[in-house]
Amino acid sequence: MVKMYLVIKLRSFFVLSGVFTLNILFYGCNDNGSTNLAVHYSPTPYSYDVPTHFPQMILPVSNSPTFEGVALGRKLYYDSILHPWNLKSCSSCHFQEFGFSTPGVNVLPHVNLAYNSKFLWNGRISNSLEDAMRFEVREFFGTDVSKLQNSAVYPSLFFKAFGSSYINHERIEMALAQFLRSIVSGNSKFDRFLRHEENLSLSEMMGFTIFNSEKGDCFHCHSLPLMTDGQLHNIGLDSVFVGSDLGFFLSSGNPADKGKFKTPSLRNVLTRSSFMHDGRFSTIDEVINHYNNDVKLSNSLDPIMTKPGKEFGLGLTPFEIHNLKAFLNTLTDTTIFTNPLFGKP
Ligand code: HEC
Ligand code: HEC
Repeated sequence: MVKMYLVIKLRSFFVLSGVFTLNILFYGCNDNGSTNLAVHYSPTPYSYDVPTHFPQMILPVSNSPTFEGVALGRKLYYDSILHPWNLKSCSSCHFQEFGFSTPGVNVLPHVNLAYNSKFLWNGRISNSLEDAMRFEVREFFGTDVSKLQNSAVYPSLFFKAFGSSYINHERIEMALAQFLRSIVSGNSKFDRFLRHEENLSLSEMMGFTIFNSEKGDCFHCHSLPLMTDGQLHNIGLDSVFVGSDLGFFLSSGNPADKGKFKTPSLRNVLTRSSFMHDGRFSTIDEVINHYNNDVKLSNSLDPIMTKPGKEFGLGLTPFEIHNLKAFLNTLTDTTIFTNPLFGKP
């Protein structure tokens, strides 16, 4: 028996090669105040399902994912207990069936957020997903931790994820970040094309050429394969900026940041019906028309928008626009809309 146990431990040590196999023994108090003998804390390491053609996912050392942490984050995401008056959960606006967004509204979808270091349309939150969650939980929701601490289920779930049933904002944010990182989209037709698993049609291929060359110049900011560079740019939607249209300027105070917004990923873009930070466009044709011949000049305009030869817009013909849209359609990956692992637990 003892030998077998050792073999299993050794095997799992090599397989999991993490500190988690050193199952830590805890001697703590349970809810009745009596002493628990050796409660087992042994979370299972989780590895994110990163497609082979994606960049490496850099994870914060202080928040290594575990099955228990991801599961807890998922439960919290769908639970209105995070809201002080139980009025809404994250999923009240970020609907899985709409790519974790709301149709017709400028709710930023959750897709491949693990790769982001700037958050919200105007980029006012930076660094890690944990920092974004700090904003969502503490400022946006104003979560009352005592509600979770006093609930029947959460203390034991936090114990399973973090080794003690103590609940604070930071642990809520860590669990949510672990869950959001698991929402990886890498199975669109275009992803399969990049992995040499599927061909694009002639029209899609011609659209890709426009997207990925100086002709359309889209790739500079909507970079492959995530379809975003994660940076902030002013793409010339306005020439005079007021209120929320000031973008990152509201955080930095630097005039060069006026009108700068986060480049949204174009994954699933044709499943949406509201485009840009303020939802000013409701069709993809309006968006393409903007790039084609409606870019407005200002001092903070991104130089890419007015490169030599583009002074009068991109000059795309209706046929080229048709092909560009055919290409954008290959970025649709509905697997994340239906994957039961991301749904309400
Ligand atoms: C009332 C609707 C609503 C609710 C509820 C909501 N969100 Fe959002 N979320 C939005 C909107 C709108 C944006 C874009 C806002 C902006 O950029 O200023 C957004 C943006 C985000 C972003 C930034 C994504 C990016 O690409 O930068 C994250 C992350 C996020 N929400 C997570 C959450 C989490 C976690 C919860 C639950 C604690 C939550 N949201 C609850 C509407 C909502
Ligand atoms: C200089 C960088 C840059 C270039 C070049 C660029 N984009 Fe964008 N794109 C952005 C930014 C930034 C936004 C968000 C702007 C905002 O909301 O104010 C955006 C928004 C979009 C949106 C709306 C997405 C949504 O979810 O709201 C689409 C669609 C889009 N771009 C497609 C394209 C296409 C097609 C091209 C090439 C013809 C292109 N972009 C070129 C940076 C760029």
